[in-house]
Amino acid sequence: MKLSDNKATISFSNGTPNFEVPVYAGTIGPDVLDIRKLYGATGMFTYDPGFLSTAACQSAITYIDGDKGELLYRGYPIEQLATRGGDFLDTCYLLLRSELPTDTQRKDFHKLVTMHTMVNEQMQFFLRGFRRDAHPMAILTGLVGAMSAFYHDSTDINNAEHREIAAIRLIAKMPTLVAMAYKYSIGQPFVYPKNNLSYAGNFLHMMFATPCEEYKVNPVMERAMDRIFTLHADHEQNASTSTVRLCGSSGTNPFAAIAAGVACLWGPAHGGANEACLQMLEDIHAKGGLSYVKEFMEKVKDKNSGVKLMGFGHRVYKNFDPRAKLMQETCREVFAALGVENDPILQLAQALEKIALEDDYFVSRKLYPNVDYYSGIVQRAIGIPVSLFTGIFALARSVGWIAQLNEMIGDPEYKIGRPRQLFTGSQRRDVP
Ligand code: ACO
Repeated sequence: MKLSDNKATISFSNGTPNFEVPVYAGTIGPDVLDIRKLYGATGMFTYDPGFLSTAACQSAITYIDGDKGELLYRGYPIEQLATRGGDFLDTCYLLLRSELPTDTQRKDFHKLVTMHTMVNEQMQFFLRGFRRDAHPMAILTGLVGAMSAFYHDSTDINNAEHREIAAIRLIAKMPTLVAMAYKYSIGQPFVYPKNNLSYAGNFLHMMFATPCEEYKVNPVMERAMDRIFTLHADHEQNASTSTVRLCGSSGTNPFAAIAAGVACLWGPAHGGANEACLQMLEDIHAKGGLSYVKEFMEKVKDKNSGVKLMGFGHRVYKNFDPRAKLMQETCREVFAALGVENDPILQLAQALEKIALEDDYFVSRKLYPNVDYYSGIVQRAIGIPVSLFTGIFALARSVGWIAQLNEMIGDPEYKIGRPRQLFTGSQRRDVP
């Protein structure tokens, strides 16, 4: 870490000596105050619920400028990665290995991932233990955690080779597991991976093929799927990634740490927002569609209603989420390819967005559409059921989680995570 030219001193009114705070500079973004020695020197902790002002690690993977609406993976803007000819596996390579692959590296990496797409046959018997109507995220949390019971040779988080094998297995097998969870819920036979297809094409094939008929992957849907994966691949220290890091910091195996990330992602304030957004649009549609929009927006603005405009707002982006713009473009491509002109859900989404972008409530709070606002609409158009949206997000984010986990393990400064607290409960007392 590089010391910044900036100097900081904390002074106290109670006679505690001043504390000189080292300040570090990143390559871009805000400087950080190093308060590691604060407790030892002053007996005080810092207080930061939700970690809004706390950098819990150093990282060289993903950078977000929320005010500019910029997202960089290893320095490359997301717009370029999504539109300049590479695919999701190139992004995986970049996130894991720091650089985009050369042609040979690309070929080798694709082959490596492809060779691991099948899951242990025994996993389907484990899956069959779930109720057919279980939520796919409940199933996925279980399946990913269960990988540690199936792949013993990649569970030592302190072994670099194990971590590498676990990374490839997770990237390769997540599409298979997500598709299996879907097939199970609709009572269709599992479809095995087809290694002559692209990563996204293989996923669509496992989702929608049946043994009875030939299934041809539609290249527009394949591209859309690949873009959804790329846009969701990583997003620096968000709730699920921080969960993976915290869980992994105890030395647990990579599959257990990623399962914790899947569980965290499920929440509606995080990855579950795409599902919640689509449910919101379907609900508005059922209550009158465009004629109900005005009343709905009044509810959103009424603090007592508890209603939020799902797919809007972001902890970090206080400008347009760059991923939302790319998703909007994909949305148009997919609807054009399907020949759908007047989809009521899309029309509703556009109407709500238009109002929100002009309404002072949203403008003054810097609430813009996030990636989930359009990704749900695209997935629905592809034929993916709403309950599977977050599972697909988890599939795409697995590479980010594992890249961040591996970065943490390789960081000489990493320690088991142990936040502190401001205790407000009862003082010591005796049982009567
Ligand atoms: N609809 C209505 N009002 C909102 C919304 C929304 N979607 N989001 C924030 N606000 C309001 C809050 O009520 C608050 O108003 P106030 O200042 O009058 O009290 C103000 O905007 C600031 O909101 P916070 O909750 O403090 O913003 P924060 O940055 O902490 O929250 C969050 C971000 C959780 C994403 C929030 O915007 C939200 O719940 N959005 C809807 C869910 C969603 O789309 N989540 C997806 C996140 S992206 C992802 O995980 C891929």
